[in-house]
Amino acid sequence: MGDTLIIAIDGPSAAGKSTIAKMVADSLGIEYVDTGAMYRAVAYKLEQRGIAETDRDEIQRILAETTIRFSNGRTLLDGEDVSERIRTPEIARQASLVSALPEVREILVLLQREMGTEQSLIMDGRDIGTNVFPTATHKFFLTASVEERAKRRYAELIALGEEANLADVATAIADRDHNDSTRAIHPLRKAADAVELDTTTMSPEEVTAQILSVIRGKENA
Ligand code: DC
Repeated sequence: MGDTLIIAIDGPSAAGKSTIAKMVADSLGIEYVDTGAMYRAVAYKLEQRGIAETDRDEIQRILAETTIRFSNGRTLLDGEDVSERIRTPEIARQASLVSALPEVREILVLLQREMGTEQSLIMDGRDIGTNVFPTATHKFFLTASVEERAKRRYAELIALGEEANLADVATAIADRDHNDSTRAIHPLRKAADAVELDTTTMSPEEVTAQILSVIRGKENA
């Protein structure tokens, strides 16, 4: 990996990973890669094509002809900007199901590793510190209570102009926690060497400052 700096951020849904990862990326002048957006983009494409998640052969065929790229913070699926369309609760639910399929994980993990060979980056997801980059320079695991995460996701949905109900958002988050942490392949798990931060009562600025201080502390050690 040479001199590339890899920062892994894992944690459950709506724990603030992407907000924090973007802030840390800006501070350090490195790229940010949102791996959840990659699983969401695959779920979106399968939904558009009407392909059931049980149709594994067809999924494999579709994946072979799919490109997912990031450009200026936008998610490009086969060259088309799908950034907003992949943020719906329905796509979140389907992404969680699709992400349990070995053929989907295999291809996306390869793409993610490739991104880290070329440049320094901060990547967020569920299995970055445990599987994608087990030798990452720095690893963080962000958590927050289900209630707090539901509030954050609810506010995000309202800001996007979606209709939302706080109790339903909390149920959906708890369901995704269950799917993501109990699936057979690379479930959501804290890496043994990750620094865990409970962000329930912290502002994004506080979390970012703490992460930067851990990174700088380690680099000056
Ligand atoms: O972080 P997110 O909510 O955008 O992720 C969408 C889904 O993708 C999530 O339910 C779990 C899955 N995911 C995963 O399995 N592995 C990753 N590295 C990132 C996301």
